[in-house]
Amino acid sequence: MRTTVIPVGGPRPYEVHVGRDLYGALPALAGEAARAAVVFTRPVQHYAKHATDVLVGAGLMVVPIEVPDAESAKTVSTAERCWDVLGANGFTRTDVVIGVGGGAATDLAGFAAACWLRGVAWISIATSVNGMVDAALGGKTGVNIGAGKNLVGAFHPPVGVLCELSALETLPPEQVRAGLAEVVKGGFIADPVILDLIEADPVAAVDPAGSVLRELIERKVRVKAEVVAEDLTEKGRREILNYGHTLGHAIERAEAYAWSHGHAVAVGMVYAALVGRRTGRVDVVDRTRSILRSLDLPVTYRADAWDALLSAMRVDKKARGASMRFVLLDAVAVPATVVIDDEDLLRAAYEELTA
Ligand SMILES: NC(=O)c1ccc[n+]([C@@H]2O[C@H](COP(=O)([O-])OP(=O)(O)OC[C@H]3O[C@@H](n4cnc5c(N)ncnc54)[C@H](O)[C@@H]3O)[C@@H](O)[C@H]2O)c1
Repeated sequence: MRTTVIPVGGPRPYEVHVGRDLYGALPALAGEAARAAVVFTRPVQHYAKHATDVLVGAGLMVVPIEVPDAESAKTVSTAERCWDVLGANGFTRTDVVIGVGGGAATDLAGFAAACWLRGVAWISIATSVNGMVDAALGGKTGVNIGAGKNLVGAFHPPVGVLCELSALETLPPEQVRAGLAEVVKGGFIADPVILDLIEADPVAAVDPAGSVLRELIERKVRVKAEVVAEDLTEKGRREILNYGHTLGHAIERAEAYAWSHGHAVAVGMVYAALVGRRTGRVDVVDRTRSILRSLDLPVTYRADAWDALLSAMRVDKKARGASMRFVLLDAVAVPATVVIDDEDLLRAAYEELTA
């Protein structure tokens, strides 16, 4: 099966490979490395083993590092354990770290690589939809601390990303759907064909073996690649990627991160559509709800939560000062960043969300 290669430009360009059985690309990506650390979680150990076999076959010394699953991987203590293993095995500046798994595992692996000897190369082998279309590219790496999620990290782009589509067949279906929320976001902010494809066949959109999910993933990767190439460190254009995230982040906080990011962003996109309509922009409320419902993603939230959500939106780390910034749509694929402090308007939009 063909492999699609999507370039990501910017100060440290790299490529995203999308396809099946991509492990053969690893030795070239590893470059001059003599050692590779393969950081993985238990549910994806099979894919980590594939990567290991290929690298050993190419003559590298491979050190497997299994880390706790999902968000439990993203701690300073797990990163420290990785550094201890790298130290014990004599990892030098030309060696490489490889993250295998969902976004949590690749965020951790990238962070471990960013700090080891002040930065060594790393490769992301993304195995979840969210990992492929969001976490693996853009160069953000990091861990969580008591004060909040993703508060400690570094911009450290990988030297290459492999979106291993065969892995999606073992990804739990609810994770496939949750990952599609970020894909829908890409449709609204930049690539309306994404929306057309889901509307035409929402069942095919979640089929891990089919061509529609593959096309959706490729399209969202291109959207993100184009944005982050222009703005690696989130000083400008990258802000459009926050569509649906102002309320989405607030819901994640209110739920103490028990809700998936995709579910929170889904509700956040409906809210952004409602706020957009109230501020005289394009009306995508019905379309947003219908697409998200067709993917079994949530479109509403608790009516009694407004005060808590408003406070959370005010202190979101991506807010500037106390003003609340929203990405809204002037038209589909025409996003604009807007500061809104009109609490009555925001509350009224929330009432529509929960009605
Ligand atoms: N760096 C970034 O720019 C960025 C962007 C978005 C999200 N993130 C981060 O990504 C994380 C969320 O990523 P996620 O949604 O992939 O969640 P995750 O990494 O927690 O993975 C979800 C679950 O699916 C399992 N899994 C992954 N691939 C699998 C497969 N092929 N088969 C079976 N099980 C599989 C994982 O082991 C885990 O149990 C969060 O920590 C978030 O902060 C980072």
